Amino acid sequence: MGRYLIKGGKPLYGEIHIQGAKNSVLPIFAAALLTEEKVTITNCPMLTDVENMAEILRSLGATATISDGVAEIKAEQVASYEIPACLAKEIRSSIFLLGSVLARKGKAKVAYPGGCNIGLRPIDIHLKALKEMGVKVEEKEGYILCDAQEVEATAITLDYPSVGATENVMLLASLTEGTTTIANAAQEPEIEDLEQFINAMGGKVSGAGTPFIKIKGVKSLVGAEFRTMGDRIVAGTYLIGAALCGGELTLKGVNPEHLLSLNGKLSKGSCKVVSKNDIIHITASGKVEALDDVVTQPYPGFPTDLQAQICVLASVAKGSSLVVENIFETRFKHLPELIKMGARVKLKDRVAVFNGVDDLYGAEVNSYDLRGGAAMVLAGLRAKGTTIVNDSHYVERGYEDIVRDLTGVGADIKKI
Ligand code: EPZ
Repeated sequence: MGRYLIKGGKPLYGEIHIQGAKNSVLPIFAAALLTEEKVTITNCPMLTDVENMAEILRSLGATATISDGVAEIKAEQVASYEIPACLAKEIRSSIFLLGSVLARKGKAKVAYPGGCNIGLRPIDIHLKALKEMGVKVEEKEGYILCDAQEVEATAITLDYPSVGATENVMLLASLTEGTTTIANAAQEPEIEDLEQFINAMGGKVSGAGTPFIKIKGVKSLVGAEFRTMGDRIVAGTYLIGAALCGGELTLKGVNPEHLLSLNGKLSKGSCKVVSKNDIIHITASGKVEALDDVVTQPYPGFPTDLQAQICVLASVAKGSSLVVENIFETRFKHLPELIKMGARVKLKDRVAVFNGVDDLYGAEVNSYDLRGGAAMVLAGLRAKGTTIVNDSHYVERGYEDIVRDLTGVGADIKKI
């Protein structure tokens, strides 16, 4: 298993081109099954999760190649409606393949996606919505068997604005005759990307980015070329890195509007954040003023995927800081690792209270999930001395090349 070796204390100066968004390209790969024609996706991040999703598409009968940030997928034939369990367990997000396989094949079979280190990750909201569309769902022996012979357009209200459940309904409804509506839909920017991709294929989706989405089913969809949006979570990770280390970073290829909740917090502290078009520029002193309370919420609230990273900032912020995780029930596994580095934090249920310290100190620490691992890299950049972050494979699920990005702006980090 790979590890990161980091010598901390260096400011970050320079420019980073932000990779394409993992959480946009994964549902877009699923949507590629909705047409027999070739789709080309550019700005595609080269990630293990993306390669695993491509492997699932191939196992269903599609061709899928990814090189130099360009993915070409052609699902002329979808020979199978069964998503292989061995691959599905690699990435839970394969669950939204249900929607596109059902739309294409009328049937779908997928192993129950397990939970992960951040929570149980149930799929009840997905299944309730599919059932409301007339999909017959049978759960047995750890598998979910769906039959969409009698699927029909309908008005759906999600009990919770689940990102994946919103995407599943959009995918199935795109090829279901009639108009399906989703109320209380997730509003994440990745949902807007999916809408734009489906519409580039000739679909009729509107309202993504708002709580109310309308999908007019069409008979068929055609091939398209589409550029994935920049990854707001990767960009947010590096902005927090600059706030921790001091320096000046220019991030290119990301929509600043996607990070308003973070930038608002950073600007109140000792950072200056200026944005223009797809560029965000941050200037930071490295002294971290008191942090306003951080409370994770569905978009446009503060993103849960930046919670671990902002915990590092809270650990060295002046005074005491509060971080509340409302989305996932066990997403604080990075706290004991931060304590090893000198952080002073207490956790009660989903509320972490930090008493800011002047410095963190290098140590050997562990990663337990993608964003927790990225947070420990940030802690190493800030810490005095040397830090080893174990289990780099977690970080590689979502960061194309964190060593390339950070060494490019002056960090002393290498993979060992
Ligand atoms: C997506 O996961 C992202 N993954 C996650 O990013 C992100 O943290 C999450 O949205 C929230 O923004 C991808 O897009 C591939 P949800 P998803 O359904 O779709 C509960 C990362 O680090 N829930 O909005 O699984 C669920 O348990 C990853 O890139 C149900 O109870 O998120 C959670 O508490 C981590 N029943 C909350 O809703 C359901 O049927 C949010 O889940 C579905 C979800």
